[in-house]
Amino acid sequence: MNDRAFGVDIGGSGVKGAPVDLSDGVLLAERMRIPTPTDGGPDEVFEAVRGVVDAFAWDGPVGVTVPGVVNAGIVRSAVNLSGDWSSLDAAARLEAVLKVRVSVVNDADAAGLAEAAYGAGKGIAGLVMVLTFGTGIGSALILDGVLVPNTEFGHLEFNGMEAEHYAAARLHEDGPLSFEEWANRANEVINHFAFIFSPDLVIVGGGISKEFDRLAAHLTVPTRVVPATLRNGAGIVGAAMLTRGPQDDV
Ligand code: BGC
Repeated sequence: MNDRAFGVDIGGSGVKGAPVDLSDGVLLAERMRIPTPTDGGPDEVFEAVRGVVDAFAWDGPVGVTVPGVVNAGIVRSAVNLSGDWSSLDAAARLEAVLKVRVSVVNDADAAGLAEAAYGAGKGIAGLVMVLTFGTGIGSALILDGVLVPNTEFGHLEFNGMEAEHYAAARLHEDGPLSFEEWANRANEVINHFAFIFSPDLVIVGGGISKEFDRLAAHLTVPTRVVPATLRNGAGIVGAAMLTRGPQDDV
């Protein structure tokens, strides 16, 4: 049985991909990155995906992440991408471009599944909540290894606004908040989500996980909170895993 698949992670700044060994979640080659076209729509982004996949001459199944809600390959919304992604059958469009079987999944779901299987959540029984802090706030819930897709906690209301408008890492990285101000807000939001869902473990991912020790000094969450360990490979690994999943059976 061939246990290799290809994962592509579409982010706000880069489209990144690599072949993945699904037996251990390890990238089989250094990932390829092409800057995300910012002034185009989905077609330009799909061409970047093709560029990444072609660089490896890959002709097997491909999993692709999108920073938005995805049901059976159809993108319902992607508020942090330019152009019109709403109601787009991204899986069908990508299959036409790549000429292989394609699964499309939410970016945080992919990263969360990979962390639960091979990273910070490996071997943890019960409910794992993964939160990614970046341009937005992504979320994933994994119960005993099974993903509940499209949880989108970043859009839950907190302090009269969407949680990601209050505590996304970009408010510190490109915006007005100092690290301490952002970390205190992130702590409030993590506490709120943990209070509602009572997870057994919270994993913090996204670019900010590199600074987890600084964030940890501000955390008062009664649940164990740990940094993601797969770093920026998690989306690629999770996308590759979901080529074998039931929910995007295109
Ligand atoms: C989107 C999510 C995504 C998150 C992180 C949010 O704005 O709605 O689908 O997972 O950003 O990229």
